[in-house]
Amino acid sequence: MEQYIMRGGQPLEGEVTISGAKNAALGLLAAAIMTDDDVILENLPDVRDIRVLLQAMQEIGVQVEYINKNTVKINGSHIDSMSIDYEFIRKIRASYYLLGALLGKYKESHVALPGGCNIGSRPIDQHIKGFKALGATVEIEQGMIATTAERLVGTHIYMDVVSVGATINVMMAATMAEGNSIIENAAKEPHIVDVANFLNSMGANIKGAGTDVIRIKGVEKLHGTEYSVIPDQIEAGTFMCMAAATKGDVVIKNVIPKHLEAISAKLTEIGAVVEEYDDAVRVIGTKRLGSTHVKTLPYPGFPTDMQPQIATLLAMSEGTSIVTESIFENRFKYVDELARMGAKIVVEGNTAIIDGVEGLSGVAVSAPDLRAGAALVMAGLAAEGVTQVDQIEYIQRGYEDFEEKLRGIGADIQKIPVDDERAVRRFQLKVV
Ligand code: EPZ
Repeated sequence: MEQYIMRGGQPLEGEVTISGAKNAALGLLAAAIMTDDDVILENLPDVRDIRVLLQAMQEIGVQVEYINKNTVKINGSHIDSMSIDYEFIRKIRASYYLLGALLGKYKESHVALPGGCNIGSRPIDQHIKGFKALGATVEIEQGMIATTAERLVGTHIYMDVVSVGATINVMMAATMAEGNSIIENAAKEPHIVDVANFLNSMGANIKGAGTDVIRIKGVEKLHGTEYSVIPDQIEAGTFMCMAAATKGDVVIKNVIPKHLEAISAKLTEIGAVVEEYDDAVRVIGTKRLGSTHVKTLPYPGFPTDMQPQIATLLAMSEGTSIVTESIFENRFKYVDELARMGAKIVVEGNTAIIDGVEGLSGVAVSAPDLRAGAALVMAGLAAEGVTQVDQIEYIQRGYEDFEEKLRGIGADIQKIPVDDERAVRRFQLKVV
């Protein structure tokens, strides 16, 4: 087990390059098995979730060849099982994308029922609703979801809840159904557009991804393709907040500025300077920032995956801010950790009332989940003194080369074993 140890107070300055989007890549990898041809996927983030999903795919007979750490060749022509073990879905929920991909191609799939996770119960009723609407039988027994279909027939599906996962999963199943499907009240995140574009590059016929109505003409077969994953809007947003939190000046490269609009708007509103270029944004946070209200919403609203980061930034800003989490029911667990650093936040239901403080103090804290873990590192880089963040395996799920990228823009941060007191002392005594 490892932890990050960092010394705050150093403004982050310089350039950082964003990796491929984890939440797009997970859908793309599952969709890649829907053809028997070779598929080359580039700009994959080298993070734990991607590695786990590739292992799950290999377990069922998918051939996976790493061309380099960010490029894989996938071949789904020798799949010999439709059943994904619990060990994989326990590690990453997104293994459930194989439900839709296998059902679409083989008219059968079995995946362990995903549990809840650190941010809420996370049901999959909308995924099941879509599969059933297309003609699949869906049974849940002994913790497994089993889907089978004589035929999948295109139909009109209205999502009761705007769901990223359900939209991607049902879109994949409908891609190879007979006839036309319409998915209404679809999620509009950039990663849904990425999966639709990817499937279309394989010969699918999907229109409207990125809007709340997706129209799909089913096709019998998909062919191979070469495709590059879009940049990760949440990794980019995290570094934008870090630049602002440390009163730094950072150019965040390899981004699609349009995907960052809600984040850029909020940072500008509280006083940061955000400059947009073709494939980069520059964030300058030289002065103390102000307060605001944030409500997380489906895209293009403010992303729930940026909620811990913006709340942590507001905890160090001037004035009282309100952050409302409208997507998940339990995404404020990091507040207790921040309070140990001196933050003044009261959580009532799905709303956090934040009284900004002049500065935070470095202490040992624990990452409760992926995005909150990144937010605690941000707090440590802005705080006075030395901060230790443990449970960093959460952070490594979704941030490639996290500490290396941070050191590249001036952060004084290291990764050390959790129980290595000598390494802690050495870091604390290091003369800066
Ligand atoms: C995806 O999760 C992301 N994960 C999450 O990112 C992200 O927070 C979330 O979308 C929202 O943007 C991946 O893409 C792998 P949802 P997903 O289905 O698809 C309810 C991260 O940090 N719902 O859009 O599971 C659900 O309870 C992770 O990278 C149903 O009620 O999210 C939630 O309240 C964390 N029934 C809301 O919809 C369903 O069948 C949105 O969930 C499905 C979802």
